[in-house]
Amino acid sequence: MWLCSLVFTLILLAVADIMGDVNEVCVGTPGIPGTPGSHGFPGRDGRDGAKGDPGPPGPMGPPGGMPGLPGRDGLTGAPGVAGEPGYKGEPGERGPPGLPAYLDEVLQSTLHNLRYQILQSMGVLSLQGSMLTVGKKIFSTNGKSVNFVDIRESCARAGGRIAIPRSPEENAALTSIVKKHNTYAYLGLAEGSTPGEFYYLDGDPVNYTNWYPGEPRGQGRERCVEMYTDGLWNDKNCLQYRLTICEF
Ligand SMILES: *[C@@H]1O[C@H](CO)[C@@H](O)[C@H](O)[C@H]1NC(C)=O
Repeated sequence: MWLCSLVFTLILLAVADIMGDVNEVCVGTPGIPGTPGSHGFPGRDGRDGAKGDPGPPGPMGPPGGMPGLPGRDGLTGAPGVAGEPGYKGEPGERGPPGLPAYLDEVLQSTLHNLRYQILQSMGVLSLQGSMLTVGKKIFSTNGKSVNFVDIRESCARAGGRIAIPRSPEENAALTSIVKKHNTYAYLGLAEGSTPGEFYYLDGDPVNYTNWYPGEPRGQGRERCVEMYTDGLWNDKNCLQYRLTICEF
């Protein structure tokens, strides 16, 4: 090191006047760190931040302010009492005459189809023996034996009523059904308030009967009527199980 310093000094002495400046060639020991500098000036203001949430509503003001706007309409009230019916208007003008039925092709084809479908259905029911036609009446049974009230109920549900023969032909038709099922059937008539007098269920007086000799003799205790397998009638209480036969 000293040698370096010596050479440096010699060169310095020799060249200093010529060059006027000297580059350092040897590395010295690091010096002591200097004291930290003083704080700089404050920076400029930053940009505006994002908008904040709205604050909570303020407290209610003192009373005595201006009245608010009117509220919305309330619910619709109950309907009022119906008014008097108005006067009947004058009849309108008569429309142009329609086609005679026999020239109305749509009507004729509808009738034709209906007649065909009814014939088909009646054919099937007759073949099955579940339908017996006498004049304009049809008798039918479901083969079930129940009491009088239940027979009336199931006939009404089917759109008919409990069977009641009003002529010898109808009685013969009913007898054939009773015979076939080998049981008795209740008929559609009942004893009135006078013992021994029977009425149709719609209240009409009876115009045909076929009592077994000596019947009726229940004298008010047997208010229903049953048909035996030979087609003769007997008055009977209404709680037996008898064949359901309806008429339509
Ligand atoms: C009884 O009246 C019914 C209907 O009113 C009728 O169809 C029936 O033929 C009458 N019976 C007799 C035996 O006259």
